[in-house]
Amino acid sequence: MNAQTSDIAAIESLLAFWADAGVDACFEEAAVDRTIVIAPALKAVAKATESVTPVVDLVDQTSEARRLANGADTMEALAEAAASFKGCELVGMGARQCVFGRGDPHAPILIIGEAPGADEDAAGQPFVGKAGKLLDRMIAAAGLTDRVYITNTVFWRPPGNRTPTPQEQAVCAPFVERAFYLMKPKAVLLLGAAAAKAVLKTDEGILRMRGQWHDWRLAEGDVAAPVMPTLHPAFLLRQPQAKRQVWADMLELAVRLDGQDSA
Ligand code: URA
Repeated sequence: MNAQTSDIAAIESLLAFWADAGVDACFEEAAVDRTIVIAPALKAVAKATESVTPVVDLVDQTSEARRLANGADTMEALAEAAASFKGCELVGMGARQCVFGRGDPHAPILIIGEAPGADEDAAGQPFVGKAGKLLDRMIAAAGLTDRVYITNTVFWRPPGNRTPTPQEQAVCAPFVERAFYLMKPKAVLLLGAAAAKAVLKTDEGILRMRGQWHDWRLAEGDVAAPVMPTLHPAFLLRQPQAKRQVWADMLELAVRLDGQDSA
């Protein structure tokens, strides 16, 4: 083995070590303005505008998202509109592609998770990893296969699988709301605290919210549906004893749907 090959092998082995330890994206949790080191004047400008700029950006990006989302009249067009949107900060943080949704776009149930993970980022579809397989099994056991459409509160994988920030969720919300508007589902299932807080605009804990019906009503368009928050399937992989609570919530959902179908 020559020196170059052994260097490459050492680097590959180090990268594999970090990847196994969960370090799979070269980003830090908080943004660091490295230009300050080479241009001290920028520091003063950044400080003077720090309370203004992010809010202006958020408002601008959210209205751009709404313009794109509201221009879509089908779920397929909505997925394309989301993919063309560059205003979510997650787009530039290492995600490979936009992960919008999977399932039947005319389904009576809309399921909303938190954010794509590594498997979803690679496949371009939500909930295809271990948590997704568990979700699919629960959907099937509740007799709801082919009766769901699944999306997330954000459509790009957050670095290191961190929880999406409220700002990232807010700029993606027009697409989620448009999906709700276009589908007019009979019921919505929210997976985990991050999805429940973003959609229901509350700080209530998921353990208090789950198992209870909530109401989601769009400000415009006269669209509303009952919403069931429940625990996230990734949580169930770590805490299998909580499966019975989610199972109860899934059955509640199935019963509500059957009641509406026979009404
Ligand atoms: N977890 C989520 O919340 N969404 C996915 O798509 C995958 C895992």
